[in-house]
Order: sequence, then C-alpha cells, then structure tokens
Amino acid sequence: MKFHWILSTLFLLNSSCVADDSNVIDLDKQHSESLINWLETSGGYFHPALEMRRIDPENPSSHFGMFANHDIKNNTRLIQVPYKMTINADWNPHYEGPESPMTCETVWNLIAQIKKGKESFHYPYVHYLQDTQPPGIIPSAWSHEGKRLLHKVLTGTYKYPGSLAQEEEDKIPEGFIELPPDEPLVWQNEWVESCGGNDDPLEQYAALALINRGWDDIMIPLIDMQSHRNGKYTNTRHNALHEGNDPILYASRDIKAGEEINTSYNQCGHDCGGRTDIYGTPEILRDYGFVEQMPQSWNFWELDLGFHIDYVYEDDGGRPVQNRSRKESYEIVAWTNEEDADENDMDLLQERLDQTRETLDEILSRDKHQDVPENEYNIIVDYMENMELALEVAISTIYDLLYEDDEEDIRNREEL
Ligand SMILES: *[C@@H]1O[C@H](CO)[C@@H](O)[C@H](O)[C@H]1NC(C)=O
Ligand SMILES: *[C@@H]1O[C@H](CO)[C@@H](O)[C@H](O)[C@H]1NC(C)=O
Ligand SMILES: *[C@@H]1O[C@H](CO)[C@@H](O)[C@H](O)[C@H]1NC(C)=O
Repeated sequence: MKFHWILSTLFLLNSSCVADDSNVIDLDKQHSESLINWLETSGGYFHPALEMRRIDPENPSSHFGMFANHDIKNNTRLIQVPYKMTINADWNPHYEGPESPMTCETVWNLIAQIKKGKESFHYPYVHYLQDTQPPGIIPSAWSHEGKRLLHKVLTGTYKYPGSLAQEEEDKIPEGFIELPPDEPLVWQNEWVESCGGNDDPLEQYAALALINRGWDDIMIPLIDMQSHRNGKYTNTRHNALHEGNDPILYASRDIKAGEEINTSYNQCGHDCGGRTDIYGTPEILRDYGFVEQMPQSWNFWELDLGFHIDYVYEDDGGRPVQNRSRKESYEIVAWTNEEDADENDMDLLQERLDQTRETLDEILSRDKHQDVPENEYNIIVDYMENMELALEVAISTIYDLLYEDDEEDIRNREEL
C-alpha cells in the first residue's frame, strides 16, 4: 500500500544560545548565515528582503524566525533551493516510492549524511539540525511521563503502545470517548517497525526529524525554516515538491516590512492534497508538537464532523474583536462534514465537551503530575483547553443554526 500523506512540515525554530567564556554565540543566527551562504554558493536564491532574526532583536531568548525587512509583492520568488541540496529518497536508484507513512529511504540518506560529518555536501544542514533542533519535540519523542499523560487524556488509559512500564489498575473508564488525534504516539516505533531501523539515538533522531521537518519524502533546507499559521497569516506558497525540480517558495500575497514569513503545514494548495479537511490542529500536535494558533481546524473522524474555527475580526478584517465574551470572540468559519450537523451531532459533541472539562479538572491538575516535564505538561493542558473552546463554539453554532428561526418566530410573536 502506498501512502501519500504529503507532510508539509517545518516548525518553530528553537531559541538556542550557548554561553561562551567571553561572549554569547547565537547558534540560530550563526547556522542560518551558514545555510544562506551554502545556498548562494550552490546556485540557489535567497531574496534580499528576507532576514533570519529574533522577533525581538534585543531579546536573545525570543522566537527566531524569517522576516521581511522590506515590503514584498505577491508572487515574488523568495527562496529557490537547488534539488541537489535536498535530502530525498531519489539517491537510491532502486527506490520505488514510500511503502509506509515514514519514507525510510530519506531517513537512511539523512543518517548517511550525518555520519559523513564534514565530508558531506549537506554538512551545513545536518550540522544545523543537530546543533539547534533537539530531539523530543514531537509527542512520539517525549518523555515516558509526558507520553503516558497525553495518552491518558486522549484514550482513557496511561498505558500507551510500546510502553515497557507496568501500569497498575489502569482500565479505560466506562463510556470514555477517544479524542483526536488518532494514534497520538504513532511515530515512536515507526522507524523500527516499518523501516527495519534500530533504537540507536542517532537513527531515532533522523527518523523523527523527517516527520517534523520534511515533506513526506523530502527535506528542504531553508524552506523548512518558516513558522506555521493558517488563514490570513499564511503569506507564502511553494511549487510542487515531489517531482525532482528545485523547490521554490513564493509570496502568496503582499507582505509588509516587518512581517514574519509564514507558511501552512496543512493547507498548502495542490501539494498537500486532501490534508485540508482531515488534517488539522490535532494532527499538527501529533506530527509537529505544538498547538497551532487561530485559525484552527478540528476533525472528529468517528462523527464525520469537522470544522474550521477563527477569531471574529473587526469590520475592517484587521484585529480580532476584543470586547466580547470568550465564546463570542470565535466563530466557525467552515464545516468540513458533508451533511449539515444536527441535534444528534450536538449531543455527541456535548459528551466530548463534558469529558474534556472533566479531564481538565480532575486529571490534569499539576500536583498530580510533577514528574511530567513542564513544557510537555503545558502543551497537553493548552491542547485540551483549545479542544474545550472549539467544542463550545461548535455546539453553540449548531444550536443557533437549528433554532435561530424558531427563536425569531417566538420573538416576532411576542412583538405582536
Ligand atoms: C506567523 O506565525 C507565528 C507562529 O504561528 C504567529 O505567532 C504569527 O502571528 C504569524 N505572523 C504573521 C505575520 O502572520
Ligand atoms: C496573489 O497572486 C495569486 C496568483 O496570481 C492570486 O491567485 C492571489 O489571489 C493573489 N493574492 C492576493 C491576496 O492578491
Ligand atoms: C465592541 O466594540 C465595538 C467598537 O468599539 C462596538 O461597535 C461593538 O458594539 C462592541 N461589541 C460588543 C459586543 O460590545
């Protein structure tokens, strides 16, 4: 069976600064400069209006990303990466296309390049990955404690597949409803099971780096350095990435000086195929390890129900409206289910909302989980709070759609 998951990947760069005896070296800055240099000396292109920097240049621990330092017009070519700079599966003439969701060939290639060290043409890229992109970003690579807690809140049991620890008395509570994403820790054993790899930390690192940064079968230096955000926050698009030509990143609208260069990991036109509707906020957590900001999309696969949610914006489309209650500050901007949601769907979502609230109150109190690393714990809580919000807004929207007319009737009658 062939999988075409088209993992448009990338993710937020980590801030990593290392103190030297005399001065502070900003590793992100240093590596991005050497990557750009490598690109330009290899025949690639990097638009002069782009800049890799901290969002707050004065604050060395602030978010590091790619920014526009001049206005840029829609459709401008921003970055072009010669195909030979990518880490791909085509190096092996016997390669016949992916046979599992993880493209083993690309991982083998990455491992080979890492092992070659400075001898590798790809050294600037693999050195950058190893220096600034620590393992452990995606849930499949979290600590045992973090994985078991995530598994508990989504599936009802601490015992996750592949865990060697004994869990006492951990039955799934009666009536527990599994919540998305499906198989939240799916990547942890994929390398060993599908690719015949082993537990060697370098191999594990390479395998998860592909999930986290590659587009299915290909890893693309520099075009994998943008942050993700959907909706009006996306300002780039790329060409087809799986046909052996040079990957190119273009502006997808006018970009103002100072804006961050952002891309979409799941809503990227022709190259992400069907990802738009079935691949949303939960899957982004599973594959990239963060909870995306608005707009979000949620898909409750067993209900055939899905939706996109966003802030309500001021009339000029600029800022989110600030002066409303939490629920009224958000709206469902699209439904992705085929049939209109009905009363039954509303009840099913309500069950999920009740369970989510119970989980937040009873299972997720910090004092019960001192052993879970803080960042993993915070991501789990943030995710469940976002799920709660999305469910609240979806339920009240369905309610309004179903009963709005009736209420208007009642009001009209009262006015008579
Ligand atoms: C770019 O993405 C980041 C991370 O999702 C987000 O915080 C920021 O608002 C986005 N910037 C723009 C200009 O849309
Ligand atoms: C940018 O250009 C593309 C291609 O010409 C066009 O489809 C799109 O509507 C433009 N975007 C904006 C915001 O003007
Ligand atoms: C929010 O503020 C805007 C303008 O400041 C006003 O027009 C609108 O009625 C306010 N909305 C609510 C719900 O108070």
